[in-house]
Amino acid sequence: MQTLKLAPSILAADFGNLAAQVQDAASAGADYLHIDVMDGQFVPNISFGAIAVKACKEAVDIPLDVHLMIVQPERYLEDFAKAGADIITVHAEATAHGHRALQQIKELGCKVGLAVNPLTPLDVFKEALPYLDLALIMTVNPGFGGQKFIPTSLNRIAQLREWIEDINPNCDLEIDGGVNSQTIANAALAGANVLVAGSAVFNDKASIATNLEGLRDLASNASL
Ligand code: DX5
Ligand code: ZN
Repeated sequence: MQTLKLAPSILAADFGNLAAQVQDAASAGADYLHIDVMDGQFVPNISFGAIAVKACKEAVDIPLDVHLMIVQPERYLEDFAKAGADIITVHAEATAHGHRALQQIKELGCKVGLAVNPLTPLDVFKEALPYLDLALIMTVNPGFGGQKFIPTSLNRIAQLREWIEDINPNCDLEIDGGVNSQTIANAALAGANVLVAGSAVFNDKASIATNLEGLRDLASNASL
C-alpha cells in the first residue's frame, strides 16, 4: 500500500494569487498539486489548460497531478507533459483508445493515471492496473468543485483497493470530489491513499495550512 497523500486541487484556489496559494499548499506539506483541466465537452465546465500547469511548475517543486477531463485526451498529452505535468490522468470514458493513451503518457516520461466517473464499471481497472501509477475513482460527477461526496463510492474504493493489492500494489488509489472533514476518514478507511481536496483546502474558513493539517490528521488516523 502506498503512503497517504493529500492533493489540493487548484480549481478552488484564488487565481489572482495562484502562485502564492500553491506555494502555501506546498510548504504546508501538500504531496501532489492536483490540476483539473476541463474542456466544456467531456464535462459541462471549462477551466484552464497547459498554461496553468506551466505557472504551477514555475511556482512549486511538488509533483503536478494533472487530471484531464477532456475528450480525446491523446491530442494534448504532449502539451501537458511539456508544460511540466508529472502525473497525467485521462478518463476511461473520454477515449476509444485508452491503452494507447496510457502508453503515450509513459513515453512522454510522465506517471500514468486512469480515471472513472461514478457510474462507470470498475472492471476497466482489471485490464489497466498493470500499466498504471495512479487509479482515480471520481466521488462526484466531474465538472465542478464543492459537490457532495457520493456515498456509494466507498464500496468502489474498497473493491479497487483489493484489486490494486493483488495486481499492482505500487499504484496510488486516488479519489476526487467532496473530500472534506466529514468524508475523508471513511474514504481513507475504505482504502483511498491519495485524497484530492479543493474547497476543503482553499477557503475562507481557515488557512491552507490549517485545513491541510486537519484533513491529514483525520485521514491518517483512519487509514488502513
Ligand atoms: C471535479 C474536480 C475536482 C474538484 C474537487 O470535477 O475533478 O478535482 O476540484 O473539488 P472539491 O474538493 O471542492 O469537491
Ligand atoms: Zn480532479
